[in-house]
Amino acid sequence: MIYALANSKGGVGKTTIAVHLAAYLAKKKRSVVFIDADPQQSASAWIKEFSFPIQFETLVTPEEIIRRVAKLAADANDIVIDGPAGLSETTRAIMLRADKVFLPCGPSILDLRAASKAVQLLHDAQKARKGLPKGALVPNKLQKRGRLSREMLDAVHKLKIPVLAGLSLRQAFADAAGQAKTVSEMGILSL
Ligand SMILES: Nc1ncnc2c1ncn2[C@@H]1O[C@H](COP(=O)(O)OP(=O)(O)OP(=O)(O)O)[C@@H](O)[C@H]1O
Ligand SMILES: [Mg+2]
Repeated sequence: MIYALANSKGGVGKTTIAVHLAAYLAKKKRSVVFIDADPQQSASAWIKEFSFPIQFETLVTPEEIIRRVAKLAADANDIVIDGPAGLSETTRAIMLRADKVFLPCGPSILDLRAASKAVQLLHDAQKARKGLPKGALVPNKLQKRGRLSREMLDAVHKLKIPVLAGLSLRQAFADAAGQAKTVSEMGILSL
């Protein structure tokens, strides 16, 4: 399965969710290759320090992604691609190769508006590829009683994309990269 994290907007949790997804799959004993498709390479720096190994590669040009991902997919059980912010050709290439694309979205109407551009790109790819990649919006940094989170969740159906349960705003997610761990390894006191 080729999973990708993408969105037009930066800072919404693409890298955080991609790294946690790859670690989860690796712990299930699946062979996982992580593709860091963001020139900032924050995921690579995080994964490099893990106590258990995950194979990763940095691929930033659309051509590299199209070519290399197809090759890697022949051997790995799963590939997880961390996309860059924006709607560049790299993001388009990711949508042409992925089986499932998760679009994390911050907890506000502004974040939702920004995500709508990525949803459009996803729908374009689905038209060209007979329904693939499957896509879902992942609300992130939700606050239980937050007005902005509620407004976003009330309006999200307009985007015509499945919506997953979402993740809360948690200090542990923000701390995880600095500790070179995933949240599940950080112990109950950090949650
Ligand atoms: N659920 C969460 N709770 C608290 N902090 C979070 C959560 N998700 C992400 N963060 C923090 O928000 C910041 C942005 O997250 P992240 O780097 O994963 O986003 P990104 O979409 O990959 O950003 P970029 O577009 O810059 O690559 C990071 O500091 C991260 O630790
Ligand atoms: Mg990132």
